[in-house]
Amino acid sequence: MDGPALSLFACPRCGGRLDSEMACVDCAAIYEEMDGIAGLRLPGDDRTERVRGFYMEAPFPGYPPRDTIDWLRARAERSHFARQLDAAIPTDAHIVEVGCGTGQMSLYLARSKRIVIAADLCRASLALGRAAAQRLGIDQVRFVETDIYCPGLRAGAFDIVYCSGVLHHTPDPGKAFGELARLARPGGLVIVGLYNRYARLPHRARRLVARLSGWRWFPPDRVLADRKGQRERHRAWLQDQYRHPEEHRHTLAELRRWFAANGIDYVRSVPSALVGGDDQYRALIDPEEGGWWLEDLLAQFGWMASLGGEGGLFIAVGRARERAADDDERQLPFFTALRAEPGSLTAHPVAVSNDSLQTGKVTPPPR
Ligand SMILES: C[S@@+](CC[C@H](N)C(=O)[O-])C[C@H]1O[C@@H](n2cnc3c(N)ncnc32)[C@H](O)[C@@H]1O
Repeated sequence: MDGPALSLFACPRCGGRLDSEMACVDCAAIYEEMDGIAGLRLPGDDRTERVRGFYMEAPFPGYPPRDTIDWLRARAERSHFARQLDAAIPTDAHIVEVGCGTGQMSLYLARSKRIVIAADLCRASLALGRAAAQRLGIDQVRFVETDIYCPGLRAGAFDIVYCSGVLHHTPDPGKAFGELARLARPGGLVIVGLYNRYARLPHRARRLVARLSGWRWFPPDRVLADRKGQRERHRAWLQDQYRHPEEHRHTLAELRRWFAANGIDYVRSVPSALVGGDDQYRALIDPEEGGWWLEDLLAQFGWMASLGGEGGLFIAVGRARERAADDDERQLPFFTALRAEPGSLTAHPVAVSNDSLQTGKVTPPPR
């Protein structure tokens, strides 16, 4: 494992750093990299294990038979959100995608000098992602098998923490969000995609009909139609959307509460939560006024039409606040300060150890 990527990993047991042999320098636990995938997963509870087993059978979302780098980019850029996300990320960012599945977004974002850690619970999905990275000649993504509840990822180390379509498949999504939020450096972005309680209603109606038919008939589903002729991807969507063992749905208000409780300033949602709000000309990091419950409610009802056809997934964007020096000693051996460059989107972290707080000497963090 190369140094820069290794410095973004941590012991999932104690949060300690890993040495070049992937042994924890604090608790001496030893981990392995196999077939290019770092193994930093501890056994989960029964529900998490069921979800892992589910994705081992049906890795999501999978790749079409004849993909190319151009296909991957064109496919991602069909989404306005993916273009906005790419534009919001500095060229030298450290990115983690938690619950990356087969890794399409990680591969898409791996440009310039960015380093991307693609993390997932399911080795079968990661293996497909890693094979795609090799096939498409993308060498800035590192794959790691790990559980969001005890992540083998260094807290406070990431400029971008991205997690879409994952939390609502975990037993306690609010708790999982807390673990996710800790990974962002102060000033870093936390971006989550979740099923919306209202926008998911059209899909739930489709699923009810399919269930009543004994899974023999599925009402028109545009994603299924799009994947006709791609056996594995068709099956992956069918399983993920219609037969999942663990599913939760969330509201904007709930997300705002999670953000506030975990030191993340809420920035905005995609789609916009302003009635009549237009995402087309706004950057992903432009803060959005709002939060009035009635407007939130009306916007979410509106999402039934705009998002309902594809499962009702919405995005929420937040920015991590400064942390207090004594926060989270388990995974944050450093207090990380910001050195912002004028006119720059990013602020670069500088690590300040307890000693250096005494001496005033500041060292850059290991990157
Ligand atoms: C619906 S897929 C989404 C994949 C990808 N983010 C996307 O949008 O295409 C959900 C993914 O979350 C992963 N996942 C579920 N529970 C997890 C956990 N506790 N820790 C890490 N990953 C998890 C699953 O293995 C699966 O690959």
